[in-house]
Amino acid sequence: MTKAGLRSKDLLGIEPLDPSEIELILDTAESMAEIGKREIKKVPALRGRMVVNLFFEASTRTRFSFETAEKWLSADTLNFAAKGTSVEKGESLLDTAKNLEAMSPDFLVIRHSSPGVPHFLASRLKTRVINAGDGAHEHPTQALLDAMTIRQRKGKFDGLKVAIVGDIAHSRVVRSNIWCLTKLNAKVTLCAPPTLMPVDIESMGVGVTSDFEEALDGADVVMMLRVQIERGGKMAFPSSREYFARYGLTRERLRLARPDAIVMHPGPMNRGVEISSEIADDADRSVILSQVANGVAVRMAILYLLAGGSPQAWQEKA
Ligand code: NCD
Repeated sequence: MTKAGLRSKDLLGIEPLDPSEIELILDTAESMAEIGKREIKKVPALRGRMVVNLFFEASTRTRFSFETAEKWLSADTLNFAAKGTSVEKGESLLDTAKNLEAMSPDFLVIRHSSPGVPHFLASRLKTRVINAGDGAHEHPTQALLDAMTIRQRKGKFDGLKVAIVGDIAHSRVVRSNIWCLTKLNAKVTLCAPPTLMPVDIESMGVGVTSDFEEALDGADVVMMLRVQIERGGKMAFPSSREYFARYGLTRERLRLARPDAIVMHPGPMNRGVEISSEIADDADRSVILSQVANGVAVRMAILYLLAGGSPQAWQEKA
């Protein structure tokens, strides 16, 4: 790959990306973050292009972040939520997508509860497809905004100790983060109650433990995950109170990590279940809102690069 762009027409996951493509996205996002600090937050990079945001699952951060990124790049946007459309009349996913494609969009951003839906559509449509979360499979833009946040705070990935703690079994965020962080040579340890840890996940090149204290020991980055109640996560332990007692991140537990360790969470947080409010709101340790801010920059970078933009050119065009 040359530094000129991404190899695929789509962004379906982190698994198919090269480390150099990940770095290209992060570098481009870093240069785009500045747009958000301008008084007039708009550059003409995607003027005349149309993006359809197709969300079949609940979303706050991801949906608004894509829409913000699209607007800052001057793209036209159409927002689709399954409720209120012909999906309620029984129209199939492929028919819905083909009908939307007939309106000539340039991008389709899709979130769906079934793994593989973005891949299925990407292979049947000419439109560029971006995966905004497919079931428990991948959430590539989340992993990229996490990587951008880690790089800003730690300056490197090589040898960095990252503990990812919580509902590993149902998390698409963790799968994308494992691929992303291991490709960048970070050392990843996963921690969950045995009932929320997938069998054989070590084969992805990560350490695994059910002991929270062991996972925190010497960690540079502590990434907490929500228990995915809607995917059955709550069945795996007796009560929220017990979960917090064993796997909740408190000030006391955080002392086991490195003194400069950062705390991350993809949101939505369940305060008092996987994280205490004291830590979630600790401006010295928590980078949770920086993750959200970086999400816009990462999504701008992806839209721009998939549209064929070269990393140096957008500033000149702007
Ligand atoms: C996550 C998701 O939906 O995958 N949130 C997000 O996109 N930032 C994580 C979650 O739902 O727990």
